[in-house]
Amino acid sequence: MKRNYFIYFYVFICFVLVIFSWYSVRKKTIPIQVKDLSEITVQLPDSNGVKLVQANCVTCHSLRYIQIQPNITKAAWKKIVKKMVVNYGAPIQDTNTVNQIITYLATIKGKK
Ligand code: HEC
Repeated sequence: MKRNYFIYFYVFICFVLVIFSWYSVRKKTIPIQVKDLSEITVQLPDSNGVKLVQANCVTCHSLRYIQIQPNITKAAWKKIVKKMVVNYGAPIQDTNTVNQIITYLATIKGKK
């Protein structure tokens, strides 16, 4: 008779271990802090050429790449835009558009 109790106890311990191991290995969910995409939509300052930037610079990355840059010289912006076109293949054909984009960037994030 006594042995039966021991088996119950053993089964109980196994059950506890199974629950415990399931609890410890269960997939941890990453807390999502952004509830609405509009919360992270980047609004660039409205100035001449903003539409060109919005149209040509979001194919590969968000406008946040522009937003997080420090204020740099127009020459530095020219270098970056050139890199986007030449190295990464941003499909901006005409130099007029490129120049307007550079001017815009130097206006909103230019080094004084
Ligand atoms: C064809 C894809 C593509 C397009 C279109 C594009 N970029 Fe990029 N951009 C990249 C890649 C790839 C990187 C990351 C690599 C790097 O930082 O050098 C990047 C990085 C950047 C950075 C971070 C700083 C830096 O020097 O890397 C800035 C600023 C930037 N892009 C601005 C622009 C602007 C302004 C435009 C529009 C004229 C643009 N991008 C369009 C591919 C693109």
